[in-house]
Amino acid sequence: MKDLDEKTIRLIDRLEAEHCLTLEEYRYLVEHESQEAKAYIAPKARRIADQVYGHDIYVRGLIEFSNYCKNNCYYCGIRADNSRCDRYRLTEDVILKCCDDGYDYGYRTFVLQSGEDPYYTDDMLCRIISKIRERHPDCAVTLSIGEKSYESYKRYFEAGAQRYLLRHETADKDHYGKLHPARMSFDHRMNCVRQLREIGYDVGIGMMIGAPMQTSLNLAEDLKFIEQFQPEMCGMGPFIPHDDTPFRDQPAGTLDMTLYLLSIVRLICPHVLLPATTALGTIHPLGREMGVEAGANVVMPNLSPTEVRQKYLLYNNKICTGEESAQCRGCLQARMSGIGYQVVVSRGDVKRPVA
Ligand code: SAM
Ligand code: FES
Repeated sequence: MKDLDEKTIRLIDRLEAEHCLTLEEYRYLVEHESQEAKAYIAPKARRIADQVYGHDIYVRGLIEFSNYCKNNCYYCGIRADNSRCDRYRLTEDVILKCCDDGYDYGYRTFVLQSGEDPYYTDDMLCRIISKIRERHPDCAVTLSIGEKSYESYKRYFEAGAQRYLLRHETADKDHYGKLHPARMSFDHRMNCVRQLREIGYDVGIGMMIGAPMQTSLNLAEDLKFIEQFQPEMCGMGPFIPHDDTPFRDQPAGTLDMTLYLLSIVRLICPHVLLPATTALGTIHPLGREMGVEAGANVVMPNLSPTEVRQKYLLYNNKICTGEESAQCRGCLQARMSGIGYQVVVSRGDVKRPVA
């Protein structure tokens, strides 16, 4: 291939065949991101995704049920110290109604996401989870509510939540310290990720692409961690600054690097559930379509009530904050069929590699 160095080609070919590289090799790939490398790897990643998942795209109905957060991640728009954030909490009834509506639109997975909000006790959360499972036994419940104790994770699992998204954010302890205040702990977060696996959840990890002060080595460490942990899901979107955070002046992550990394992760973990994120759709109008073409196989349209959508702002200019849930579903369906893929009505479980 023209303009693409031999070593990049060799590494991509090996990754395709063996699904692993050394840390230094991952770093080399990250540092040699280019249009040519992307054009070489994306069809391979897409071919692998097609072999495992065909042209099916799984949808997850995302319910952002609270934007209160006790934490202060420097990058996040709903951090506790952002006094300009207009806070809200959804009641149990509203959350259940979102799921009922979502069920009618064809969703079979509900993702309950929030800031770290102690207002919702474990009893409340377990009641909500079991009610969703009772009303919709053919649906999966995914939680994305941050760091909790082992006992809490176990209780949610026993109540019927089977999947948990907890992005590791960065696999490098020093880098973690640059993104979070001192009272937040890298070791604690990584421990939570391991506990979720131990309990039996399908675990989603992930990181922001182009996070402030992220180096090529940091991304290589993320890739090595993904290779070793073998997550069921991996959420990767570009970092996008939010005006009311300490990182307001930091540059956003790029479309190209995000797409390239999606392809790399697909080659590392052929079976992983890989979302084309809302953040990707925010930095480019066709970001999610391009994400699918680079190897993604999941989209997560918003099911939150329209009145609260524009309040769950993790970053500037977030898309899909004005639409009704039904519109979001229809829009994504049209976008996916526009590139030859179909949104499917199913729980969209991970397909496990045959041992
Ligand atoms: N509180 C839960 C947690 O900590 O896992 C879930 C909600 S948290 C807001 C969801 C994810 O949003 C984070 O894991 C982070 O990677 C992402 N995020 C936060 N701020 C962002 C930003 N400025 N740009 C892109 N992604 C961001
Ligand atoms: Fe809420 Fe980071 S600001 S978890």
